[in-house]
Formats: sequence, C-alpha cells, structure tokens
Amino acid sequence: RVAGPCSLVIFGVTGDLAKRKLLPAVYDLANRGLLPAGFGLVGFGRRPWSNEEFANYAEEQVRAHCRTPFNETTWGHLRDSIRFVQGEFHDSEAFTRLSDTVSELDRDRGTRGNHAFYMAVPPRDFPVVSKQLAASGLSHSSEGAWRRVIIEKPFGHDLKSAKELDRVVGEVFSPESVFRIDHYLGKETVQNLLALRFANMMFEPVWNANYVSHVQITMAEDLGIGGRAGYYDGIGAARDVIQNHLLQLMALTAMEEPVSFAASDLRAEKTKVLSAVHLPKNLGLHTARGQYAEGWQGSEKVIGYLDEHGINPDSTTETYAAIRLDVDTRRWAGVPFYLRTGKRLGKRVTEIAVQFKRAPHLPFETTATRELGANAVVIRVQPDEGVTLRFGAKVPGTAMEVRDVSMDFSYGSSFTEASPEAYERLILDVLLGDPPLFPTTKEVELSWEILDPIEEFWSTLGQPSPYRAGTWGPKEADDMLARDGHHWRMP
Ligand code: BG6
Repeated sequence: RVAGPCSLVIFGVTGDLAKRKLLPAVYDLANRGLLPAGFGLVGFGRRPWSNEEFANYAEEQVRAHCRTPFNETTWGHLRDSIRFVQGEFHDSEAFTRLSDTVSELDRDRGTRGNHAFYMAVPPRDFPVVSKQLAASGLSHSSEGAWRRVIIEKPFGHDLKSAKELDRVVGEVFSPESVFRIDHYLGKETVQNLLALRFANMMFEPVWNANYVSHVQITMAEDLGIGGRAGYYDGIGAARDVIQNHLLQLMALTAMEEPVSFAASDLRAEKTKVLSAVHLPKNLGLHTARGQYAEGWQGSEKVIGYLDEHGINPDSTTETYAAIRLDVDTRRWAGVPFYLRTGKRLGKRVTEIAVQFKRAPHLPFETTATRELGANAVVIRVQPDEGVTLRFGAKVPGTAMEVRDVSMDFSYGSSFTEASPEAYERLILDVLLGDPPLFPTTKEVELSWEILDPIEEFWSTLGQPSPYRAGTWGPKEADDMLARDGHHWRMP
C-alpha cells in the first residue's frame, strides 16, 4: 500500500493540528517507506517563510511530536520535497503561486498532477479556500490525474450549517474527491472492532438484544481545554466529539455485517444504524451535561472551566455530556446505547463496553455484588489498546463463591508491530484514494439530526452542573443510568 506520485498541500500549516499530527504523520509515512519517490509536501500560510524556513519548522515539529526516533536519512529525502507558499486565503495571486509550485513539483519531482489539499483550517475558511482552488484551476485535474480535498471536523455546528458547508465544497469538488476526516476511524482498535465482530464466531451470535443489556461508549479525557478556548466555547463536548467520534463508534458497534469492506458497503451499514437511532422522549431524564470546576488531576491542582483563559465567565458550554440513544432495529430493540464524554475526568480512556444480561438463574449461593454475572466485552480503544472480557469465576476455597474477573488481550503484548497513528493511516488512505474510513455527507447529516434536538433542549437549561476536575462527571449522569437500573463502568 504505497501511495502513487502526488503532493499534499496543507492549509493551516502553522496551526495546532498540523504541528502535532499532520507533519509528524507525513514524516512517519516517509519513514515506513509508504510515500512515493515522486512526492511533494506544500505548506500554505501567512508567515514570510522560504522553503528552507518552513522545512526547519516542520523538522522541529517532527522531532517534538513523533513517537519514533528521528531518522536523518528519511528526513533528508522528505526535506527535498518541501515547499512553502506564502499568502492569505483571499489573495488570488497567492493561489497562482501555489499553482506554480505544484506545477514545479510535477515537473521536477514527478508528482504527475496528483494533488491533495488538506483544509486544516476553521470551517469559516472553507468557502474562500474552495473558491480560490477553483478560480486558480487547482481543483481540476488533467486527464488521468486526481485532485482531492481533505476536510477536518467540525463539519458545521448543526444540520443547517453542515449542509451549507457541504454545498460550498460540493460546488468545487465532486463527492468522490472529498475526504472528511474523523480521526477516530483511523485508530487501530476501532478497526479491530470490525475484526472482532466479523472475523470470529463467538461474539456475533450474542451481539443482540437477546443477550445484551446495554452498551456504554466512553471517551474520557484528563486534559482541560488547553489553548482551544476560541474553538471550544460555545461548541461544547457533544458537538466536539459525540456528533462525530462517538456516533461513529456506535454505528460500528451496532451495524450489520457489511457485504464487503468496500467503502459503499461499509458506509451503507453505518448509515442504516444512524437512520435507525431514536432519541428518548424525555431528554431531561436521559441526557446529562456538566462543566468542570477546579479540582485535582493527580497531584496537580487545576482550574475550573470558567477560569480558563479566553472563556466567557458566564459560559454555559458543557465540558461533559452523556446521552442515551436507542436503535430501532430487531437486533437492538430495547437496548440502550449510552454515550458519554468529558474533559478533566479521572483519566484518559476511550472504550466501548458491551454489557450482557445476567444469567437467568444461578444454581448456587453467591456473595453477589451488583457486578456479578454481568458479563462484558470491552473494546479498549485507548490508551491501553486491546479487548477485555469480564465474566464470573469461582474464588478458590471450599465455598462456592463467584466473583467477576477479567481476561485481557493487549496489543502491546500480543503484537510486535507498532500501530500507525490515526492521521498517518488516514492521510495514506487519501493519497491512495481509499475511502472506507471517511464518513459520508449522509452520515454527517444524520449525526446532526440526532444531536440537534438535544442541543436545542440543552440551550433552554442554562448552566450545566459543575463537577470537580479529576472526578467522573456530574451526579446527574449517574442518576440518568440509575433510572434505567444501570451504572457507569469504571474504566
Ligand atoms: C478531537 C477533539 O476531535 O479529539 C478534541 O476536538 C479531543 O477536543 C480530541 O481532545 C481527542 O483525540 P484523541 O485522539 O486524543 O482521543
């Protein structure tokens, strides 16, 4: 799976995403030998940099953010392919220079007219960049060559704005050349969920309402909002990650087996799940919001959300969100899917826990805890990637005592190969033109259709409940599950 000749143009190359993820991902691809000989990396930005200065900047980021040791030889090759185009998005001359630069790469480095444009910029800039790409002729390829555009989330902030974004991008690029990044789909364990379900015999027969009590999808972060106040305030936890990452995880957990792993088949199954989602009638009882207050993260004292730099002191933005969704299909009738996420929680962990019903009868006395017999398959997405099975086992001794135990599969101990970073895999897929891991417009729109009524309801509520940093969120999230007779798993 080595990409063919091409270049990658990054808009927003001095931003946080490019720094921490994109530039290191390009380097990692080069290091694994997955970039073609004919490759070009082009940064577009306002700074008055030469190619050399941008290459120095890129090297700093790679050294700072790559997990793999820095390889001088890899870097030496990549460095020769690096170009910088200085300019503003509204300046058409800058796009003429960009066009000249990619033509130069075609000529001198053999990129053969194949160019991908990465919009690592806020959505408000998509229209102007798209229009400039069209006006400068960059969005159109000659016979046999391709042009692709990569769009970062957020894909709008509600259904209406998502449709508008889509319209703007769609005026310039055909649907097959638009790649929407949801970086969770590039994570190793997320894809392993499909292997677990569809490459084995023992999970799928019980993966349904006959055996499953409920599903908990958790994405917890220990960090606060850091320097992202400008983006986060007014957006909040649900729009930031439930609309995209968590609904995608849910779709993969709940979907039927696709006919094949071709993009259209996989997307069709995810789309069916998202179309079948229904919201609880009483959103007050089946959703919860919170906002972190000051507290402790390990031994570090941390400030509350309202005291973070750049946050409106009256902000009603939630940093914690939990929702219950149901999927109206025969497989999932009556099985709640609980999705929760939050900043400044107890620890960083993402997992999907499929919780099974209890055995209908126990032929012995037990010192039963509420956990006992509540079997679970837990897909540990990060940081300790793997799968855990929870089941009851007899405690050694003369009494018949049963207690829940775990059986673990860990990537780290079972495989020697290191997993590629999500962005590395997804960028490679774009360069290869391989779309299965990219959500479609339809999926994005369905996700907003699910979230919009919840956001509308929350907007009538005022301040979210405070929770102390370093804890597991507000009490109302616990109450929300308790009402259904469940409790959150402690990851
Ligand atoms: C991003 C969100 O999409 O995902 C961030 O905007 C969040 O708020 C990040 O911190 C988490 O990604 P990961 O890969 O570290 O779990």
